[in-house]
Amino acid sequence: MIFSRNKLCWCGSGKKYKHCHIDKDSIISRLKRKGYLVPPRYLIKTREQIAGIRKSAVLTKNILDMLDGKIKEGITTNQIDGWVYQYTIQNGGYPAPLNYKKYPKSTCTSLNNVICHGIPDETVLREGDIVNVDISTILDGYFSDASRMFTIGTITETAQQLVDCARECLYIGVNSVKPYQPINNIGNAIEPYAKAAGFSVVRDFGGHGIGLKFQEDPFVHHYQSPAKGVILLPGMVFTIEPMINQGSYRCKILNDGWTTITTDGGLSAQWEHTVLVTETGAEILTS
Ligand code: MF3
Ligand code: CO
Repeated sequence: MIFSRNKLCWCGSGKKYKHCHIDKDSIISRLKRKGYLVPPRYLIKTREQIAGIRKSAVLTKNILDMLDGKIKEGITTNQIDGWVYQYTIQNGGYPAPLNYKKYPKSTCTSLNNVICHGIPDETVLREGDIVNVDISTILDGYFSDASRMFTIGTITETAQQLVDCARECLYIGVNSVKPYQPINNIGNAIEPYAKAAGFSVVRDFGGHGIGLKFQEDPFVHHYQSPAKGVILLPGMVFTIEPMINQGSYRCKILNDGWTTITTDGGLSAQWEHTVLVTETGAEILTS
């Protein structure tokens, strides 16, 4: 649709179109002509929805903070899951993973060669382990998702480099988010950095839209891609959660249907935030 330059903008700002959305709309049209996709309207969150997701994200962050100092040698991943369940319920939330597509626990705990979706069990954490704890929370119907790495005692230099690289990749991804620009920017920023450090980026799993449901569109890939993705628009909310492998990026899912491991037995690390696209970049909601 063509809006007259001198008529009021479609957005309801009360300004003339030529003083409001005209430039942004022309950027979007240009990207569309180049083959990029424009996200459907329902992926742009309203002010009220953003307020709800924001509260949920604060709870998710608080859960991760609560675990700080508790995750150490000798505890089991089941214990972590118990603390997360208790704290979430006590604060009025509900763990999003619990019973999601028959997932049996509140938390994902992915140890050493586990890339993601590790199911908490009686495994005892030992000196030298690296473990990702992934927290997803529902609060008043709004979803948020974040994860961090925890290291147990002294770990190898390579393990520390991998953990640091994965964290750096997360922030490189966050900083690459620009409104009215394609989603491909994220992976195009992350993968060269991971490769330069001698590591690889998992391709089979990525970030995802989130907020009204646990996993919404778009799929957020963390690897380089010349393919035309979706354009990011202010009000979109999604996760960035690069999984970085020591060796090959290849994955294998175990018979439990969830636990995803590296095919070569190498270590894997991951950090995750839920972010909101703004008029200038990305705001991290889970920090
Ligand atoms: N939190 C995970 C993610 O970041 C999703 C876990 S799905 C579950 O995508 F059901 F396994 F918890
Ligand atoms: Co996620």
